[in-house]
Amino acid sequence: MCGIVGYTGKNAALPYLLEGLSRLEYRGYDSAGIAVIENSRIDVTRTGGSLSLLEEKLAPFLPGTAKTGIGHTRWATHGAPTEQNAHPHLSRSGLFAVVHNGIIENYTELKEQLVSDGFSFSSQTDTEVIAQLLEKNYDGSFHGTVRKTAAMLSGSFALAVLCRNEPDSIVCIRKESPLVLGKNENGVFLASDSSALLRHTKDVFRLENNESVLIENGELHFFAPDGSEEEKKSIHLNRSAHDAEKNGYSHFMLKEIFEEPAAFRNTVAPFLKNGRIEFSGFSPTKEEVKKISRVIITACGSAYHVGIAGKYAIERLAKLPCEAEIASEFRYRSPVLDERTLVVVISQSGETADSLAALRMAKEKGAKVLSVVNVPESTIANESDSVIYTAAGPEIAVATTKAYCAQLGVVYLLAAFLAFEREENGKGELQSFIREIRQIPEKLSRALDYAQEAQQTAKQLASLEHIYYIGRQSDFAAAAEASLKMKEISYIHCEAYAAGELKHGTISLIEKGTLVVAHACCDRMFEKTVSNIREVKARGARVLAVTTKKHLKELSDMEYVLTVPETDELLFPVLEAVPLQLLAFHTALLRGCSVDKPRNLAKSVTVE
Ligand code: G6P
Repeated sequence: MCGIVGYTGKNAALPYLLEGLSRLEYRGYDSAGIAVIENSRIDVTRTGGSLSLLEEKLAPFLPGTAKTGIGHTRWATHGAPTEQNAHPHLSRSGLFAVVHNGIIENYTELKEQLVSDGFSFSSQTDTEVIAQLLEKNYDGSFHGTVRKTAAMLSGSFALAVLCRNEPDSIVCIRKESPLVLGKNENGVFLASDSSALLRHTKDVFRLENNESVLIENGELHFFAPDGSEEEKKSIHLNRSAHDAEKNGYSHFMLKEIFEEPAAFRNTVAPFLKNGRIEFSGFSPTKEEVKKISRVIITACGSAYHVGIAGKYAIERLAKLPCEAEIASEFRYRSPVLDERTLVVVISQSGETADSLAALRMAKEKGAKVLSVVNVPESTIANESDSVIYTAAGPEIAVATTKAYCAQLGVVYLLAAFLAFEREENGKGELQSFIREIRQIPEKLSRALDYAQEAQQTAKQLASLEHIYYIGRQSDFAAAAEASLKMKEISYIHCEAYAAGELKHGTISLIEKGTLVVAHACCDRMFEKTVSNIREVKARGARVLAVTTKKHLKELSDMEYVLTVPETDELLFPVLEAVPLQLLAFHTALLRGCSVDKPRNLAKSVTVE
């Protein structure tokens, strides 16, 4: 989603701003722009399209002499991704320039008022309202004007503002949308995402809701929501800018798929202690665990698919009622929750707006919230009662791979942990489940051997318009994720169905040559899934079967087969993910798609 950067210091600002924006490209965007301030003048350069177009426009002026500036990558919400709608937006006399992440919900009424006050607008964005409002509210105090203006906005925002009268200053304020700042000997850097700061510092300040900061002559002055100046402690980031580089791979997605064994191992290994599970951020007593009467897992996108796999694991191992809920739906329901409900929020970024809203709703209703998050300094991590961190490292490709894998690792451990503490399960079954978990990294490495074959099979898929994915139980969770992965990066229309459900409508779409990817790894469900495979084959479908070696004989007449290593039924989603991610990757590549940054998608979805 939208990205913000800013710099003020002793060096030229433009190169820093462009480099910072390139670090945020992975979030997904469709236009970009920067503003620099010099000689009491704010200069804005913007383009629709990619950052390279902005770089081309600015090339003759690099590095420039302006030492203060802000930049933005925009993911269109209000108005098309054109140059006119790109940020920064200037106020009518050029007094203020603003970049904004989030959505201003009352922008229509604010705009009407501004129009009747004689202001005119040159974009369709909600953000331009902020720029004009800043000018209208200006009382000589830069920081005071930004605070006053922010107080009139409803919705979510992270703002970075320049004022022509204060050439060495930037003011930022935020509500709901994240903003981080850092400092080194060259100056002060700010960004909506710490990955744009890592090159400059690992010690960052995270602005909290309604806090603001005045950056003046290289100094950071933080202000509490009531306007009083406050001291702020920095957070140390345990990752380096190098983690977010391709390291010889052609694409981030490919690199991240190959990092899955490590992501899974680094996530689960620290929690496995002498056959027991101990989480550092979640350590309820046995009595507290026994009081839990049900678990609700809520998340978006791939993280929701982790929830489906987690539901099967928690039900079977811990014998607790468990549901997986899409966060954007769950947040508006009227669920009956109480202190005996454990709500698990899963989010790679820790910033997904719907997951965050679901968390807040659950807390308000008295439930305990445990989050599973990959980014330590994120809002979801901050607001949860307890947190289990995945150790996937920075994930840059928009379509998640290794973080999904690491999230699965946590929900499996969580299921086993709840089972241990509830003493609901034979120790033997749990021990063997944990042994299987320990073997997953090695099996993931074996699953990566499919990389070569995926390139070949992808050739058969690249010209398709539709693919259907089917599976039962854990195979269904795997199918849902495989289908999402293929559609988001290759733009082929894909749908996943519980295999038994296909005949209740969707089978009417199966005709000669339709490709069905049939996930048939779970032994318990194998015969049932084979019946569904037969049903689609009888109607002319070509089938790509995803299975284990021992079932190859029964599936000898399939058009394509790919095998994954044996494991416990519950753990198949993690092993099935690898070959299907590779297949999606190569199919998308053959179709000429932008694999790491698919059109219209964003990595961190900070709006509803
Ligand atoms: C976006 C990403 C998906 C991700 C989903 C949830 O749609 O493209 O890959 O699964 O958001 O993100 P989260 O950060 O909450 O896991």
